[in-house]
Amino acid sequence: MKKNILITGGAGFIGSHVVRLFVNKYPGYKIVNLDALTYAGNLENLKDVEHAPNYFFEHVNILEPDMLLNVFEQHDITDVIHLAAESHVDRSILSPMDFIYTNIVGTVNLLNVAKSYWKENLNTHRFHHVSTDEVYGTLGDEGFFTEETAYAPNSPYSASKASSDHFVRAYGETFHIPYVITNCSNNYGPNHFPEKLIPLFINNIMHKKPLPVYGKGENTRDWLYVIDHARAIDLVFHEGRNGEHYNVGGFNEWKNIDLVKLLCKQMDEKLKREAGESEKLISYVKDRPGHDLRYAIDATKINKELGWKPSVTFEEGLSATIDWYLQNEAWLKHVTSGEYQNYYTEQYSNR
Ligand code: NAD
Ligand code: TYD
Repeated sequence: MKKNILITGGAGFIGSHVVRLFVNKYPGYKIVNLDALTYAGNLENLKDVEHAPNYFFEHVNILEPDMLLNVFEQHDITDVIHLAAESHVDRSILSPMDFIYTNIVGTVNLLNVAKSYWKENLNTHRFHHVSTDEVYGTLGDEGFFTEETAYAPNSPYSASKASSDHFVRAYGETFHIPYVITNCSNNYGPNHFPEKLIPLFINNIMHKKPLPVYGKGENTRDWLYVIDHARAIDLVFHEGRNGEHYNVGGFNEWKNIDLVKLLCKQMDEKLKREAGESEKLISYVKDRPGHDLRYAIDATKINKELGWKPSVTFEEGLSATIDWYLQNEAWLKHVTSGEYQNYYTEQYSNR
């Protein structure tokens, strides 16, 4: 069936990989990337697909419901894959209200517009909400997050995502909006904004700057290559059951300090530095307040029901990620200098 899919946050890290996958894999669909282009949004991420005939970009903020409705009408939107969000825990500690507005109010705006635009044949539509494993809170040394784990968010970021998940569910129950929710573990890969652990440390190693490890470096995350997350979204969007959550994870837990040491080792090899040189940059700093100890996903449901599993090992994915950053220094410079705005003006101001 022909679909006109609104992908929000498509200029961001994960969103750009989802947009690319859908534009290339489904030439019969119309893919509308809606993004406010905050500091985290970058159209350079999509240079390779920006001229595809099935790709459209709308520079819109999800906090503007009238503009959202215009986009639905103009493109006759049939489905939504919602990724637009404030996504960084540390920023949510510095500035929680931005997270309340975009992640909660913005999501409810989208739901309201979908509800008013999809008046008839609701079951031909789908609202896919992209969420995080952080809504489940923290684990101790053992156990995994399943789809039945109770929500217990600990940061303003995870609380805002949990709230948005609840609203999606409530609009499903109350107004019969067909929905699915994916709760994914930490992603890594190309185009990751250099504020998160892996790209920040790659950038710092490149420039021989200190590597600020929070606390003792014993917090544990379950890392998934971003392209495998995009594949999971594709599968759940098309084949997931309505009203269900699907957890997505890498079966790949790493203590931060072990991950940082692996990163240092791979980068020393690639940069032809002496073994152990980059490890000397490690600097233990004050811990993050409310720092979740451990995340680990049980991805049995998506594996058994939809046949999804990660396609690359962590060593392969990390190596490909480092290569991408080493080959895309200009990208790193742009996103860290604000130069990107010039690109946007040049590319779009006269269209
Ligand atoms: P990101 O910060 O890289 O990108 C977010 C995108 O949303 C940016 O392009 C930004 O411009 C856009 N955006 C922000 N506020 C907006 C607004 N008000 N209106 C319109 N667009 C706006 O984020 P990401 O890491 O790609 O994460 C994408 C989604 O996946 C988020 O919903 C996040 O919670 C979720 N998620 C992320 C991870 C992860 O490891 N990064 C893991 C699981 C789930
Ligand atoms: P991050 O990439 O911010 O993802 P999240 O907080 O959503 O899991 O951080 C991953 C882990 O790395 C987390 O335990 C915090 C830690 N961390 C550091 O030790 N130093 C840093 O500079 C950053 C950004 C994160």
